[in-house]
Amino acid sequence: MRLTVIGTGYLGATHAACMAELGHEVLGVDVDPDKIAALQSGRVPFHEPGLPELIARHTASGRLRFTTSYEEAGAFGEVHFVCVGTPQRADSDGADLTYVDAAFAAIAAHAAEDALLVGKSTVPVGTARRLADTHDTEVAWNPEFLREGFAVEDTLRPDRLVFGVASSRAEAALREVYAPVLAAGTPLVTADFPTAELVKTAANAFLATKISFINAMAEVCEAAGGDVGILAEALGHDDRIGRKFLRAGVGFGGGCLPKDIRAFAHRADELGAPLRFLREVDAINMRRRDRVVELARGLCGGAVLGARVAVLGAAFKPDSDDIRDSPALNVAARLKLDGADVTVYDPEAMDNARKTFPLLGYAMSAEEALLGADLVLHLTEWPQFREIDPARARSLVSRPHIVDGRGVLDADRWTSAGWRFLALGRPVPAGEGI
Ligand code: UDX
Repeated sequence: MRLTVIGTGYLGATHAACMAELGHEVLGVDVDPDKIAALQSGRVPFHEPGLPELIARHTASGRLRFTTSYEEAGAFGEVHFVCVGTPQRADSDGADLTYVDAAFAAIAAHAAEDALLVGKSTVPVGTARRLADTHDTEVAWNPEFLREGFAVEDTLRPDRLVFGVASSRAEAALREVYAPVLAAGTPLVTADFPTAELVKTAANAFLATKISFINAMAEVCEAAGGDVGILAEALGHDDRIGRKFLRAGVGFGGGCLPKDIRAFAHRADELGAPLRFLREVDAINMRRRDRVVELARGLCGGAVLGARVAVLGAAFKPDSDDIRDSPALNVAARLKLDGADVTVYDPEAMDNARKTFPLLGYAMSAEEALLGADLVLHLTEWPQFREIDPARARSLVSRPHIVDGRGVLDADRWTSAGWRFLALGRPVPAGEGI
């Protein structure tokens, strides 16, 4: 089929490349000519394993092309996927639909009469119906559930497909688009518009709630002298609960979960069906960042002013260079504001971090960040940080104090190498007084 993908950010570029991989002729559309030029020459402006290879292969074969012209897109596509961003609004917690509305209007103005406009962006429930009522071209909603770092895999081999459709014609078109994925046995759920939109926001709300649940247990463990790591392991053995998304730590960040749960709570309020617990999910998440700052102050004798702090990690999670709402950088910036001399190291996210937080110090390696540090904060769980040798690290720092904000470092190894080791949700050793 001939498909267009409007918006070539993280979601759109991945979707476009994966649709080409499924055998379609794909035209990616974006208003940013620099992005289009980069993609057309096979360059991907963000870190996503497997995506550069896929884009290079399909642009070379001509099956995947990019343009800034909606006119060209309208003439080309049978199905148009809208993959533009829905950031948080500046004046409220709600989602900013400017880009979605603009993309639908622009493609609807040029699309063929029998084309299908398919929204993939995460939107407040009710958006698909409003757009369908606004435009003459038929609308469908097909939410995505991809995780950064696994975006290609999650698109080609998703856990499920969700089609929000208002006609059998729309369902048939989407079945044709995803024919190889469906043939591989992927479950398909077809639904009305509001249900399809809600699947996405509800899934993100559930995941965020699961993380905040274990982080709330971490708060209780800290107060009661328990160990949240052991608690999570024991809970996870119950099949009904499961081990996934029960990693306690400095909490969730990124371009999706934080803004999506706020937008969902905002929309639910508008609908008169409030989801008050989501505000608490958000609050628990933010309190974990406060806790790291508090531990840092405690380990520096009450104030971080003048202390040299090494922050390991800048990306919101490993295998990503995305720093949007990164807990690691949030903590780093707050300590900097309190007068600490902060040096950050991250294997992939240095350029992005430098652009957004130019006043923080940056090191070229973890070892360089540790040199002369009074305190080390481990805030993004890159595998290489787990491999740091505590004895070698001790020889680099000024004072061997570390906070494990991700609960993955081996406490015994660090303490036996002479470190004062604290972790979120773990007992604070007697006499630490924090
Ligand atoms: C998420 C959803 O997983 C995905 O389905 C949706 O489409 C977009 O949002 P992503 O933001 O890529 O994907 O990251 P994810 O792997 O879900 O992690 C989100 C955040 O939660 C990260 O900051 C991660 O470090 C944190 N996290 C995750 C925890 O703190 N504990 C966990 O147990 C799991």
